[in-house]
Amino acid sequence: MSKKSHDYGRFASNYSELGLENTYYLAFRDIPSLLETYTQGLVTLDHGCGAGRSSRFLQSLGYTVTGADMSLDMLQQARSRDPDGRYEQLHSSSLPFDDATFDLVFQSCVAEEIPGIALMNEIFSEISRVLKRSGVVVVVTRDGAIGSGEWSSFVITEPEDGLRSGGQVKLFIREKNITLLDYVWFHSDFESVFDKSGLKILERHQPIATGEEPYHWYQELDKSFWNIYVLRKVADSTM
Ligand SMILES: C[S@@+](CC[C@H](N)C(=O)[O-])C[C@H]1O[C@@H](n2cnc3c(N)ncnc32)[C@H](O)[C@@H]1O
Repeated sequence: MSKKSHDYGRFASNYSELGLENTYYLAFRDIPSLLETYTQGLVTLDHGCGAGRSSRFLQSLGYTVTGADMSLDMLQQARSRDPDGRYEQLHSSSLPFDDATFDLVFQSCVAEEIPGIALMNEIFSEISRVLKRSGVVVVVTRDGAIGSGEWSSFVITEPEDGLRSGGQVKLFIREKNITLLDYVWFHSDFESVFDKSGLKILERHQPIATGEEPYHWYQELDKSFWNIYVLRKVADSTM
């Protein structure tokens, strides 16, 4: 059973008001230092830019960002918040960019919306194709191994038969009263997809709260909600 997971026609306006607080804060807290460590250029694709929150964040770090997304509703929000920004609509997993265009391909909170491994392979092969040989990919995604429980930004409810790769969990976003169905992808799924796409993992980072942040934490002090993957093209990749 797989239900329509993300109805952005309904939620785009609400979603566009989400900031980088609470559990979302941890998704982005360590991105500046990871980018400083690994990137060698500024030309960036924000794949699945949504309402542009991640694109504006990358711009604030000095990157030259093209946001791309399949949802016109989300792109309209992105464009209205950032009229000078560059945002493009995608119509499939194919990316309308030449080979080796980008120094950085960034993707946040998108992989958990991709409904199948075959599609995931297509998307990451395209990402690998448009990445320069010296480029890096950064993927921020909910850790699929996380089951039912409360987080500062979220309440997760897993299905009665538990978590399985490609299954769905219910994700309630407290700040905006939005309920979504997210797909479950485990670390082993990502390893296989990246491998097939000609990408190798340089680092898997799992941000934990320190307790110094101005937020009320649930499990964030002990456990990471997020997996952040830093990837590079494998040297002999023809993609
Ligand atoms: C949860 S939003 C995240 C937006 C933004 N990256 C952020 O962190 O705020 C996920 C976005 O991914 C987009 N998306 C989902 N599947 C996609 C795909 N196959 N290609 C491009 N965008 C996709 C959705 O339309 C949605 O706007």
